[in-house]
Amino acid sequence: MVLWKDVYELGIPLIDQQHKKLFEIANEIDTLLNNELITDKYDPIVAIIEELRDYTKEHFAAEEAHMLATKYPKFLSHKVLHNDFIDKMNSIDYAQIDNEQNAYLKEILKFVISWLVDHILKEDKLISPT
Ligand SMILES: [Fe+2]
Repeated sequence: MVLWKDVYELGIPLIDQQHKKLFEIANEIDTLLNNELITDKYDPIVAIIEELRDYTKEHFAAEEAHMLATKYPKFLSHKVLHNDFIDKMNSIDYAQIDNEQNAYLKEILKFVISWLVDHILKEDKLISPT
């Protein structure tokens, strides 16, 4: 279970709401990881990765629009970090999923959560008006 903390709030309602949704998707990964009733998780894994990638793209576009609208000075370097994350999502090799599905899910969850928390606290906080 991945918990949202108040310290992640930026004070920008749309962005905060989207960050919370990303935590929800991370929790869906956690739930799938702990589900012992599904023996073959290939299809749900692919579906969840695609949900995560699509939603992240939508969220980054909103965050970038906000940065442009507020003339945020570090827009370009921030956008590079977003692009790197999308590249990482796009480079996921589904062929690797079949062996060791839970280990694979654990790795994705670890990566997503550490990236998200680190990115919100170090980078997104800089665009916070508070
Ligand atoms: Fe960001």
